[in-house]
Amino acid sequence: MIHRKSAAEIAIMHEGGRCVAKVLERMKEVVRPGITTMDIAQEADRKARELEIVPAFKGYNGYPAVICVSVNEEVVHGIPSTKRVLEEGDIVGLDFGALHNGFYADAAVTLPVGETSPETQRLLEVTRDALFIGIEAALVGNRVGDISHAVQSYVEENGFSVVKVFVGHGIGRSLHEEPQIPNYGDSQWGVRLKKGMTLAIEPMVNAGSDGVQVLDDGWTAVTSDGSLSAHFEHTIAVTENGPRILTMDAAPGEEKRN
Ligand code: MF3
Ligand code: CO
Repeated sequence: MIHRKSAAEIAIMHEGGRCVAKVLERMKEVVRPGITTMDIAQEADRKARELEIVPAFKGYNGYPAVICVSVNEEVVHGIPSTKRVLEEGDIVGLDFGALHNGFYADAAVTLPVGETSPETQRLLEVTRDALFIGIEAALVGNRVGDISHAVQSYVEENGFSVVKVFVGHGIGRSLHEEPQIPNYGDSQWGVRLKKGMTLAIEPMVNAGSDGVQVLDDGWTAVTSDGSLSAHFEHTIAVTENGPRILTMDAAPGEEKRN
């Protein structure tokens, strides 16, 4: 069943979401060539404590870290390691969720490490724009498929592929709630969006084919063809005034594409 949230509940999710955004903003200052993916996780943990939010992923289905750190061909769910050193030209996906006053918020960005190639930058831009195009389709009366279709069309028009085996999701008192939000499909598919639904929309985009496999660590998903992959995610609320981005460090009504 789909749990719709009251304005007061959405306000709580926005408070937590703003903190999630602050953690990811901090990561932009930390990510540079020479640091390890574990350094990133430690800083995320420190920042979360400072903000007094509870990292959501550590222990979730046995996931071992506070943040998912996925480098280059890693799609999602990479595990931070003291041995993985970031290099100039890499890209790094950072996915962070938190629990605040009983509600979850979940967001992700993919950052360049130092200078990246123009084609790599295009992958990041297209994935980020696909997220916002999906968010713009999260309107009362539309269907989940309107989000899915908007994301897939935009990504494929730009010559990249969307990952099919992982999907976005409803979010609230649980990290994963109904409905699922695929990044592909027909606009006629899925339930109708209603006021008060809170959704984590999260396109994962591969530079090559859409195939994905999970490594022996049981978590790290990589592209089957070794091509680069990017991931951006926001938690949003469907409102009568349009989608409201909850994982953004802006006052209500001031959300911008930043
Ligand atoms: N944002 C992700 C998701 O929605 C990440 C969490 S999975 C975890 O599925 F297990 F690593 F926590
Ligand atoms: Co998510």
